[in-house]
Amino acid sequence: MAAGRPCTASAPARPPTGLHVFAIAFALEVSVGKTNTVMALNNSNVLLPCTFTTCIGFQDLVFTWYFNSTELIYHGKIKNKASEPTVIQHNPRVEFVGSTTKKDNNISIVLNNVEFSDAGKYTCHVKNPKEKNAQHNATIFLTVVHKMVETDNTVTLIIVGVVGGLIGLLILFMLIKRVVLFIIKKMQDGKKECLVSSSGNDNTENGLAGSKAEQKAPPKA
Ligand SMILES: *[C@@H]1O[C@H](CO)[C@@H](O)[C@H](O)[C@H]1NC(C)=O
Ligand SMILES: *[C@@H]1O[C@H](CO)[C@@H](O)[C@H](O)[C@H]1NC(C)=O
Ligand SMILES: *[C@@H]1O[C@H](CO)[C@@H](O)[C@H](O)[C@H]1NC(C)=O
Ligand SMILES: *[C@@H]1O[C@H](CO)[C@@H](O)[C@H](O)[C@H]1NC(C)=O
Repeated sequence: MAAGRPCTASAPARPPTGLHVFAIAFALEVSVGKTNTVMALNNSNVLLPCTFTTCIGFQDLVFTWYFNSTELIYHGKIKNKASEPTVIQHNPRVEFVGSTTKKDNNISIVLNNVEFSDAGKYTCHVKNPKEKNAQHNATIFLTVVHKMVETDNTVTLIIVGVVGGLIGLLILFMLIKRVVLFIIKKMQDGKKECLVSSSGNDNTENGLAGSKAEQKAPPKA
């Protein structure tokens, strides 16, 4: 119970209709946990978590799981805290796995043999007659994938590919630069022999500044 929201604090935030304030004051709260998305492999069984908290307890509480807001996939009833739920109606692939006699009021289900068409919105809805029929719901989104690690691998491969490619390009660039510088030097050496007599002094010939030599080369050629 400590994990739920405060039992009385949230009333002022709601519209001042009598029923609302009354219902909120009892603070029935339904939760699917910290993350609201779950990923499942094609053909696997997936847990769809849901718990609820109440401040004054419950009696003949009704809970319902919906797929995409409209399709009822599990409907159950719990007499009181001393009992486990009884099923009213359920989809054959849906199995109740929770427990309401322990500390948490766990009303999780497992969806068996997940198919791609199962992807979508799963809403866990609770109604508590003991709290003047207070209702609350929480939603979790299911995505169905072929391979669990596929997306991670793809990202890794892309990073490795890009980094590897960049290093490769850098090496290639350095090699080309060396070759070009070598050729330029060779050309200049050749030219120097011809130019020695006329202009004696060419300060790029010692090749200290590589890029300078590279830039200056074309106009001379
Ligand atoms: C999903 O699993 C079923 C059963 O193994 C298989 O027939 C189907 O091809 C799978 N779908 C995809 C897209 O991998
Ligand atoms: C609810 O029960 C299921 C099945 O025992 C378990 O896997 C899940 O962790 C429980 N959830 C919480 C919030 O206790
Ligand atoms: C359920 O909703 C999702 C989107 O929220 C949609 O992609 C999917 O087609 C819906 N499935 C069915 C069976 O209506
Ligand atoms: C869930 O609660 C919201 C209000 O918080 C309501 O608009 C919505 O209709 C409820 N969904 C279901 C499936 O009961």
